[in-house]
Amino acid sequence: MKVLVTGGAGFIGGHVVDQLVGDGAEVVVLDSLVAHSEPPSHLPDAVDLRVADLRDPDAVAHASGDVDAVCHQAARVGLGVDLDDVADYVSDNDLGTAVLLRALWRRRFTGRLVVASSMVVYGEGRYRCPAHGVVTPGPRSGADLDAGRFEPPCPRCGAALSWDRVTEDAAPDPRNVYAATKLHTEQLAFVYGRETGAPVCALRYHNVYGPRMPRDTPYAGVASIFRSALAAGAAPRVFEDGGQVRDFVHAGDVARANVLALGSAWTGPVNVASGEPHTILEMATALCAAFGPDAPAPVVTGEYRLGDVRHVVASPERAAEVLGFEARTSFVAGMAEFAHAPLRR
Ligand code: UD1
Repeated sequence: MKVLVTGGAGFIGGHVVDQLVGDGAEVVVLDSLVAHSEPPSHLPDAVDLRVADLRDPDAVAHASGDVDAVCHQAARVGLGVDLDDVADYVSDNDLGTAVLLRALWRRRFTGRLVVASSMVVYGEGRYRCPAHGVVTPGPRSGADLDAGRFEPPCPRCGAALSWDRVTEDAAPDPRNVYAATKLHTEQLAFVYGRETGAPVCALRYHNVYGPRMPRDTPYAGVASIFRSALAAGAAPRVFEDGGQVRDFVHAGDVARANVLALGSAWTGPVNVASGEPHTILEMATALCAAFGPDAPAPVVTGEYRLGDVRHVVASPERAAEVLGFEARTSFVAGMAEFAHAPLRR
């Protein structure tokens, strides 16, 4: 099998490439390398690396010309800085996906298409009210967060809610530019699938971490921020009260989910998660403990970022059912490795 991995020099794409090459696949990587300060040394020699922008129609047509399957990982990731980023996100993620799909259409590609999506398309997690069942709380107000009221209340009766696992049929509610472009990436890919009959799977990654994760930037997730702080001798700063729940899934597991998806014909969105939720404070504590006896302890600051989601926890059931995917790296083992794993500059 010959597979095109867009963004294959990146963090998650690189792990996908490692596993595909290990499985004996022929791999073409299309990557602009704009997020790299030095050429990636981790790519296996056997990989056919094409350094080009996804929005370059000729480069995309050449790279995808004779592949059997496409694994689309290239994207501008993270939360961004402010709305000044909007045109760059739309250009990289929406237009980049569109140029890829047009190239595939022009060669009448009906092979397997797997696209990287994110749990950010859900907006909020799933919550349950003791009186009203499953409810959708609105965004948390600055006044509530200032007062340390971090848990979103029931929108109907104001009662305390408990979190529940989000399933793929939850209504999408993208709340930032990145989330909107990820949902659009999925939608464009599904349109391609409907028009051509190509089986399309969108993998909704939860909080991915692991070796070669990019270091702390305005675009980085919390695992990288905490790990970079420790490397600099600083304590991880845990926002809110540290009780926010997430699902941290190891990049090697995410890569395996991609390989399983490439080998299946399931069409639709699938959560990719470890199934082992933890609070942000638990993650910070585990990482500090694994970093070594001299590591500073996490500091719970009570700060908040307006627009942050309180709890997002995936249901990993569909991934198990349709892809046969279950994460193999436990939280404890993954954090122990991540505490000393190399990060990308
Ligand atoms: C993150 C990603 C999102 C990605 C998703 C799934 C970012 C900014 N967000 O969403 O793009 O799709 O995972 O992989 O990359 N926090 C701290 N201290 C800090 C930074 C953050 O306590 O220094 C807290 C935040 O308040 C939040 C939690 O950690 O409660 C997670 O933050 P983060 O990883 O940035 O964003 P997610 O919403 O989980």
